[in-house]
This record gives sequence, structure tokens and C-alpha cells, in this order.
Amino acid sequence: MPLVNMKHMLKHAYENKYAIGAFDLVNLDFLTGIMSAAEKEKAPVILSLAESHFDTFDFELLMPAVVAAAKRASIPVAIHLDHGSCQESAVRSINLGCNGVMIDASEKTIEENTNITRALVEIAQGCGIPVEGEPGYVPGVEGEDAERHPGDIRYTTVDEAIRYVEKTGVDFLAVSIGTVHGRMQGKPDLNYQRLKEINEALGIPLVIHGGTGLSDDQFQQLIANGAAKINYYTALSDAAAKQIEHNSITNRYSSYTSMLKNIPVAISKEVERCIKLWGASGRSEEVLECCSPWREVEHVIIYNVKGLDKKETREMVSEGRKVLSTIPGVLEVFTGEAMKKGDEYQYTWLVRFCHPAVIDSYREHPAHVAFADNLFRPVAGNRISIDYLDWKK
Ligand code: 13P
Repeated sequence: MPLVNMKHMLKHAYENKYAIGAFDLVNLDFLTGIMSAAEKEKAPVILSLAESHFDTFDFELLMPAVVAAAKRASIPVAIHLDHGSCQESAVRSINLGCNGVMIDASEKTIEENTNITRALVEIAQGCGIPVEGEPGYVPGVEGEDAERHPGDIRYTTVDEAIRYVEKTGVDFLAVSIGTVHGRMQGKPDLNYQRLKEINEALGIPLVIHGGTGLSDDQFQQLIANGAAKINYYTALSDAAAKQIEHNSITNRYSSYTSMLKNIPVAISKEVERCIKLWGASGRSEEVLECCSPWREVEHVIIYNVKGLDKKETREMVSEGRKVLSTIPGVLEVFTGEAMKKGDEYQYTWLVRFCHPAVIDSYREHPAHVAFADNLFRPVAGNRISIDYLDWKK
């Protein structure tokens, strides 16, 4: 149940003037630290996976743990792709379990950015998944010194924000109003007036990137002017690194596990501080009440095959697995054969969708239509097909 629709979650934060942390995670220590702080504070939380970190961990391998942590939580959780570079990457993240995606085409021209984002919104809507987009440009790289990645801040203008949201249909808007990703020297100069005007013009949850290094007062002003999601990473990474340094000084026998001791605790402390500061503490129950639970669908087909021998049947099935598993919103494709020869239906497809919206978008997807019409239906006339909605406790 606690994996919830991020759109409902952020609507609650936006309307009640607090912000939910989207904490980037790079391994299980981060996941554990973030979740334990959110559970302790009874706060909604966003588990965020930034594409810029994908060369430091195996995204496909980490995602099952992230999904498991969200599903077993008692607090509302959403799983988000941060800074997705392209449509393929966003679809891959949806199929691995993200239920919110950001496409970051902010380095391109506003026209290109708008077109790329619009195309993703259409796909994501077919999966019931909300999208974050960013007009304007927030420089820097999360986890690194801002000076190593010089780049001019391109402030989001009000007109640009209005046109971008109208044309793309994004659910949340990341705005550039003076923050920078990563460790920054000096205090960033934030344009609250611009944020206020964008907020008044749009009335949708706004997102602040580059949370590290902002003062308590800056956070309060951002939230008062529509920021409902704050992205945060570098300070967590620094807390973890400091703990390793401490471990290396205090542990006489520097074993691997002793070097990693208390890292989740160090991360958790910083997450807890943010949750309190941004006003998300104790919001869990209210948020759960107004959020739809995230419900998956099992698309079940049982069938018999006529006109193909066993080898040809396996080839047809293997082609289907390959094609169908790449369709947006498909979490898993299971195929199998009855264990008893005498059973009425000898074969099955179990295709797990991330959301009920996928029932229609999957059926109409060209890859599905081509496979079903050319390879499957002609040989599987005798079949039953049913969609089952996940029963939430
Ligand atoms: P910081 O690393 O500056 O906290 O920024 C994180 C971020 O914006 C991720 O999208």
C-alpha cells in the first residue's frame, strides 16, 4: 500500500505548504538511511534515482530493493527517475518500477525541450505516471563541487514556464531560480519574486533542484512560494563520506565492514533534519488518506496452440517476451507451460502492468498489435484473457 501516486502526494504538500524530500540514493546504505528517517518522522518521501549516477551502480539490480523498501513501508513513498536523459531511459525506469519520471532536456533549446518532454508525457500518461520537466537550466552536478562544472544559471521565465506547461502537460515543474547542483562556495542568490510569479501563474507543485547548501530561511521562502518537492543529494553523500573518514581513524582493524559502519545512521540524521525543516514530519496519515495506492495489474492469458510444434511454440513465445517486455508500463513478462499434460489450457502469459492505464496503452501499442496479429492470435484461437487488479491490504 505505501507505494503511492506521486501526483496525489505532491498535491497534498503543495496545498498544505510544505515540501517532500526527493532524496537521491546510490546504494542500500542510502536507501536504508532515507527510509529509516522518513519512518521515524512519519513523513512522505520520494526515493529518487539520478541517471547521472548510473555509472556508479547497477540500476537494474538496485531497483528491486527500492521497490521492496517502498512496498513494505508504513509511510507513503514514491519512486522517481531524476534527470532522465531521454525517452528510452524514462521508459526503462518505468518498467523497472519508477512511478514518477523526470525528463531533463534543459540543456537544449526550449522548443526541443518542449517537444521531447511532450512526447514523454504522452507515453507516461498511458502508464498512469506523472512527469516532471524543467525549462531554464540549473547548472552543476549532484555530489560534486559546483566549480568543477561551471555553467551559467538560466533562470526560468514566467512566460516560458506557462507555455512549457501548457504544451507539454507536465505534472510538476522544476524551476531554475538561482540554485546550483552540488557543493557550492558562497550563498546562492535566489529569485523569490520569479518563483512567486511562476507559482501564481501555474498553481502546480514546483520542484527545486540543488537543495544542498541552502539555509533554513531560504528553504522556508522556497516552500512559501510553491516548492513542494526538494531534490537533495550532495549533503547526504558528504555525510556518508565523513562517516567513512571517521571510521578509518577510529577502527584499528580496517575491515571493509568496519569502514562502512554507521553510514545509514549518518545519512538518516541529515534526511531527518530536512524532513523536519521542510514541514513533512507527521504528515504520513493525511497523505495516505488522499493518495490512491499504487495498484498493479496482472494481464493473464491462458491458451492452447494449434499448428506449431513445441520448438516453434517456444520461438513464438520467446519473440513475444522480447517485444512485449519493452512496451511502456510492462514490469514483467512470465511465460510458462502447464505442469500437467491433461490440463485444459497448456500455456500462459502473465504480463504485469505498473498501472491500470497500461491495459489500454499496451493493447494499442504497435509492438503488441504486430506480435498479437501476426504471430500469436493465428495459432492461439483457444484462449482466455483476463486483467486482474492487485488487491491492496
Ligand atoms: P544537490 O546535490 O545540490 O543536493 O542537488 C540534488 C538534486 O538536485 C538532484 O536532482
